[in-house]
Amino acid sequence: MERKPSAVLMVALILWMFGVAGTVILPLFDQEINSATASGELRNYPEDSAEAKGREIYIQNGCQTCHTQFVRALPADTNQNLGPVSQGGDYKYDLPHLLGSNRTGPDLMWVGLKYNEDWHRQHLIDPQSTSPGSIMPSFDYLTNKELDDLVAYLMSLKPTEERLAEYKKEREEQNSMNDK
Ligand code: HEC
Repeated sequence: MERKPSAVLMVALILWMFGVAGTVILPLFDQEINSATASGELRNYPEDSAEAKGREIYIQNGCQTCHTQFVRALPADTNQNLGPVSQGGDYKYDLPHLLGSNRTGPDLMWVGLKYNEDWHRQHLIDPQSTSPGSIMPSFDYLTNKELDDLVAYLMSLKPTEERLAEYKKEREEQNSMNDK
C-alpha cells in the first residue's frame, strides 16, 4: 500500500486539535476554574493598595524564583500542613500568576497565617536572625515604605475563615482516621 504523507499529516493535525481542545479550549468553559473562590477574591487587590504594590516588589525582587504559591493535592504537600489545597479560582486575579516552580524556600500560598508583621520585616532585613542557617538573601536595601508594602502583601496571603475551618476539620478527620 502506498503511504500518503498528506493522510499522516491530517491524522497528526486532528490529534493535535484534540490536545488543544482538551487543554486550552475546554477549560475556558469550566466555571469552577474561571470564577474566583472567596479566598481568590481576597487577592483582588485595589490598584494602589499596599498589597498591590507589595506584590510588584515581590515580582521585582524575584521572590517567585525561590518560592511557590501552590499547595498541591499530593502527600508531599498535604503532609507539610501547608494549608488548603489550591484551587483554580484562587488565582483568578493573580496576574501574572506567581505559582513558581522551585521551592528553595517554603511555599507561600497561605504564609499570611503563619507570622505577624514584625516577624516578616525582621526576616526580610536579616533572614538568619529569625531563621538560623537560612540561605535566603537579605532585602535590607528596600526602603521602609517598600518593606511595609511587601509585608502587607505577605500578610494578605491567607484563605477565608470558612476555608480554613473546613481545612482544619478535614485534617482532624484524617488524623483521627490515622490513629485508629
Ligand atoms: C535564593 C532563594 C530565596 C529568595 C530569592 C527568596 N527567598 Fe524567602 N526563603 C528562602 C529560604 C531558603 C527560606 C527558608 C528559611 C527562612 O525562613 O529564611 C525562605 C523563607 C521565607 C519565608 C518564611 C516562610 C515560612 O513558611 O516560614 C518568607 C515569608 C519568605 N521567605 C519571603 C520571601 C520574599 C518576600 C522574598 C522576596 C523579597 C523571598 N522570600 C526571596 C529562600 C529565598
